[in-house]
Amino acid sequence: MRINNILLQNFRNYSNLELTFNEHRNIIVGENAQGKTNLIEAIYLSAFSKSFRTNNAGDMVKFGEERGRVNVDINSEDMDKNIDISILTNGRKMIKKDGKAVRRTADLLNNIVVIIFSPDDLRIIKDSPERRRAYINRELSQIRPKYYDVLKNYSDVLKQKNSLIKGLSNSQYSRTYNTDMMDVYDRQLADYGYELIRYRKEFVDMLSEEAGEIMSAISGGKEDLKIEYKTSCDYISAPEGREIMFKQLYHNRQKDIYAGFATLGPHRDDLEFYINGTDAKKYGSQGQQRTIALSLKLAEIRIAKQILDEYPVLLLDDVLSELDLDRQRFLVNQIDDVQLFITSAELNDEVIETLQGGTLFRVEEGTITKVDKY
Ligand SMILES: Nc1ncnc2c1ncn2[C@@H]1O[C@H](COP(=O)(O)OP(=O)(O)O)[C@@H](O)[C@H]1O
Ligand SMILES: [Mg+2]
Repeated sequence: MRINNILLQNFRNYSNLELTFNEHRNIIVGENAQGKTNLIEAIYLSAFSKSFRTNNAGDMVKFGEERGRVNVDINSEDMDKNIDISILTNGRKMIKKDGKAVRRTADLLNNIVVIIFSPDDLRIIKDSPERRRAYINRELSQIRPKYYDVLKNYSDVLKQKNSLIKGLSNSQYSRTYNTDMMDVYDRQLADYGYELIRYRKEFVDMLSEEAGEIMSAISGGKEDLKIEYKTSCDYISAPEGREIMFKQLYHNRQKDIYAGFATLGPHRDDLEFYINGTDAKKYGSQGQQRTIALSLKLAEIRIAKQILDEYPVLLLDDVLSELDLDRQRFLVNQIDDVQLFITSAELNDEVIETLQGGTLFRVEEGTITKVDKY
């Protein structure tokens, strides 16, 4: 997959920008606050229909303007496609693919698959379980289009169950509740939840294998990485798996009511990372945790390729300067067949050398120019 060109109108600090990208390597350099991440955000938006740094789409409209626009020409599955996203300051979005309105996010997600790596991702091992779940959800939604639908259904039912529980805990009749309604919710949560866990386990097994190989290569065979999906549920992969989950949810109801929310299910699950058998969250050094994060990203590229039979686009936003030279070298040497967007305030000479043949762009206050030399 690749992005051939981009048009930005009143997007963040860009008034009007048109760029043609390099098929392989795009290196975007510039001082702080010039628009590097804004460009990455625009690409990300065209893949996910939302930003990775704001939940309020209106933030992306240029200050003082009413409407912003991102338009990209992409190529995937050997077909040229056009994605057009307009955003209003009130947060409303209009998305079009090849001129036709796209109403479901799921229909946008697999057109262009992007993997983003930013300094935030380096903290994924130490961060909250919520961040790790968001990470899995994001990656799986792109490579398994059905996953996004199941996740959405699960989240909708979960919201309804939680509001039923909330009503109860505030009432003095907290022992009597609408069991019929609760049955309906728990049945659905067990069905969707079972699917979610199945997809996630499959993905995490692949991650563990691929990231394990990469981690071993980076560490010269010294560090053996295993990743496990840790579920709060009695999950077994078998036809009766859904029924078993339902029973568990059923038996857990009083606890939920006492807590005031649904305490069991994939919305409470987490990932675990082990280096040579020890929990990397608790005992890993910062360097090891960063190496795991790097291995995860490179593993995702391989997994996307296995599943989609195509390489995704890789966005490296300001992350190189956070890695030591060995790891920078490893990273840029691993990604030959991937279209790469890399932003940085400064780049190491050796890394520039490795990225030869790419196009170099300089960003300055919302204008971007192609340059020959860094
Ligand atoms: N909606 C907006 N309209 C205009 N300018 C914006 C908007 N949002 C952010 N900016 C400006 O964009 C700049 C930050 O751009 P960014 O891409 O994050 O910088 P960097 O090059 O460091 O990655 C800041 O100067 C900020 O004021
Ligand atoms: Mg930035």
